[in-house]
Amino acid sequence: MTTATSNIRVERVQQSRLQDVDFSNLPFGKIFSDHMFVSDYRDGEWTDDRIIPFGHFTMHPASMVLHYGQAIFEGMKASVHEDGTPMLMRPEEHAKRLNASARRMMMAEFPEDRFVEAVSQLVAMDKDWIPPQEGSALYLRPYMYATDEFIGVRPSETYRFCIFTAPVGPYYAKPVRLVVEEKYVRATPGGTGEAKAAGNYAGSLRAVHEANAKGFDQVLWMGVENKQQIQEVGTMNVFFVIDGEVITPVTDGAILKGITRKMFIDILKGKGIPVSERLITIDEVVDAFEAGKLQEIFGAGTAAVVSHVSELQYRDKLITVPPVEERKIGPMLKRHIDGLRVGKVEDTHGWLVRV
Ligand SMILES: Cc1ncc(COP(=O)(O)O)c(C=O)c1O
Repeated sequence: MTTATSNIRVERVQQSRLQDVDFSNLPFGKIFSDHMFVSDYRDGEWTDDRIIPFGHFTMHPASMVLHYGQAIFEGMKASVHEDGTPMLMRPEEHAKRLNASARRMMMAEFPEDRFVEAVSQLVAMDKDWIPPQEGSALYLRPYMYATDEFIGVRPSETYRFCIFTAPVGPYYAKPVRLVVEEKYVRATPGGTGEAKAAGNYAGSLRAVHEANAKGFDQVLWMGVENKQQIQEVGTMNVFFVIDGEVITPVTDGAILKGITRKMFIDILKGKGIPVSERLITIDEVVDAFEAGKLQEIFGAGTAAVVSHVSELQYRDKLITVPPVEERKIGPMLKRHIDGLRVGKVEDTHGWLVRV
C-alpha cells in the first residue's frame, strides 16, 4: 500500500517482522525494524523522500563511496515515555552534526527540518519496535554516501541518505580496561576527526585490534602535536573526575563534538558541579592517581551513555580507578539520561521531542 503523508511517500510492509523478535534478548545492531527512510540527491536537490520496507540496496561497482569513501553517519535513539509516547532526544543536533560532517567531506547537506520530520515519521511508524524498558531504545542510524558511478577523485554529484532503526537492549557494559595509544592516531586538528566520517572508524580498527591482543578493551586516543594530550576513548568522548572537578578535553577540531558530552556538561553545570572543558594531559592523570585524587574515568556517547573505565595502562604504569560503586558522577549522569528518556526525570532543558 502506498500513501503520501506530508512530503514523504510511504510504502508499508505487508507483514511486520515484529512477532519474530525476542525483546528480552536483543543483540546490539543485528535486528532491524520494518521500515527505512530513503532520499536521493541528484541535479542539486534531494528528491523522492520515502519510507519503504527495510531491505537491500543494489550498488554499481564504480559507486564512488566504494572507492573514495564519501560516507558519513549519525547514531541516535528513540525511547518511549512512561505515558506511551515515542520520544527523540535532540534530533536537531544530530541533523546539524550530519551536515557539519557533510560539509567537511564535500557532500550534500540534508535540510534539518526534513531530517527531523523523516526521523519522527519513521519512529512513529515503527513505534512498536521501541523496547519499553529503561536503558533500552530504538537505535537510529541516519547515514549518507556517494553514489556517482565514476572513477576519479572528486566530490560525487549524487548521494543517498538513509535512516534505518534497530531495537537495542539495556547496555550493561562492564567497566573497561584502556591502554594509552602511542603508535596510532585517530585524528588531528585539520583532519576529519570532527566529522562522523566512516573512514575514521576504519582507521581506528588496527589500534583497537592490537590493544585487544594485549588484553585491553579499548584505546585512549592521544594528540599528534602534543603527544601528552588526551582526546577520546574508543568511539566515545572521555571524562575524568579529579579531586571533585569533572574534566573533558576541549574540542579542538580533532575531537567529535558528542551530543552526550554536551548534555553532561549542561547537567553538571545545572547541578553546580565544577566541570571544565580544557586540555588534559596523561601526566596530569598520572599525577592525580599518584596523589590519590583520581576519582573516575568514563566514556560518554549515545550507545552506552556512560562506559566506566576500571584501569588505564600508560607505558609501565597501571592506573587503577576506584570501583564503580564508589563513583558519583558517571552513574548519576547515566541515570539522568536514561531517566529523561522515559520521563522519570524532568526535561528542564527541553531536549526531548515527542513523536
Ligand atoms: C568518535 C566518537 N566520539 C564520540 C562519540 C559520542 O557522540 P554522541 O554523544 O553524540 O553519541 C561518538 C559517537 O557518536 C563517536 O563516534
